[in-house]
Amino acid sequence: MSAPNKSYDPVEVAALSPGELERAQAGALAAIAAATDLDELKAARIAHAGDRAPISLARAEIGALPPAARAEAGKRVGATRAVIIQALALRQAELESERDRRVLVDEAVDVSLPWDRTLAGARHPVTTVGERLADVFVDMGYEIAEGPEVEAEWYNFDALNFPPDHPARDSYDTIFVASPDGRERSGVVLRTHTSPVQIRAMLTRPLPLYVVSPGKCYRTDTLDATHSPVFHQIECLAVDEGLTMADLRGAINAFVAAMFGEGLRTRLRPDYFPFTEPSADVSMECHVCRGASTKPGAPPCRVCRSQGWIEIAGCGMVNPRVLVACGIDPDRYSGFAFGLGIERSVMIRHGVADIRETIEGDMRFSRAFGTEA
Ligand code: DAH
Repeated sequence: MSAPNKSYDPVEVAALSPGELERAQAGALAAIAAATDLDELKAARIAHAGDRAPISLARAEIGALPPAARAEAGKRVGATRAVIIQALALRQAELESERDRRVLVDEAVDVSLPWDRTLAGARHPVTTVGERLADVFVDMGYEIAEGPEVEAEWYNFDALNFPPDHPARDSYDTIFVASPDGRERSGVVLRTHTSPVQIRAMLTRPLPLYVVSPGKCYRTDTLDATHSPVFHQIECLAVDEGLTMADLRGAINAFVAAMFGEGLRTRLRPDYFPFTEPSADVSMECHVCRGASTKPGAPPCRVCRSQGWIEIAGCGMVNPRVLVACGIDPDRYSGFAFGLGIERSVMIRHGVADIRETIEGDMRFSRAFGTEA
């Protein structure tokens, strides 16, 4: 093995020659200056300061020099490398601040642009009115009761004293749910009214009982100006000792005052519902003309069709047969009930002529009732 070459001259190692180092530095500085973005600068860093860059290769050569020559060569290589590293850092800072400035401009949000082009959502008046009505009864001590929209026929009809083949059943245009084996008679229907919630309440709650039940109902009606296959009702039921039609009348008057305003007279006329006996239909004095349109020569009223009265609900005293079906002693307890359509009430209250307006989802309709949270 030969001894180290004491006369080894670093200047003669190509990579370490001053000319070569100058070229490496000039090449690096040119590439750094030419980088127009951070990606290009990254490429320049790899090419001119990375492991395979001329300056790095030169540094690797130092170890092969005789010890005496290393210090001087190391100084020159180190100085050159420092110039390159510093130029990289400077350019990095410049390009970063350029990028930040550009991002601020490109992604700037113009806070002066109109902000309300997208309408804020509004809860539907059928929902808010239903809740408001329920609240009126909750304030009077009633509880909210709910039942399923897919309901057993027994609750929807049988327990409410609709005999199996009674024509009253047909008048409800029922949507029957098919049984899993495809046969139509599954014993399950989409509830046609909220009255089955009366049965559920009487079977599960202690007496005395005061409940109010807003909810969705379904019938096979074709959608037109006055019918909708999906609609909402609110049902009121009280079962207690000694309740009479006077109590029913009081509850109805409270409802009318809450929904249509104070001081409107109500009228009960005989009607038929299997689950109430006696039964009545409820009308209220027209809240628009207050009966004035019925006078000879008076201008006609569009809301009550100049009848002076508007039919709003069905009601009655709970049929003792229904109480018995729910295990309640009709000699001790009596009950009253009434039920009505929420859409219809909203339409009467706000002069809406077409029920389709309540289901079309047009924000202008909901917003007219105020955007309640
Ligand atoms: N459920 C009846 C209907 O949908 C309305 C009704 C009538 C409800 C009389 C009642 C009532 O609670 O007592 O036509």
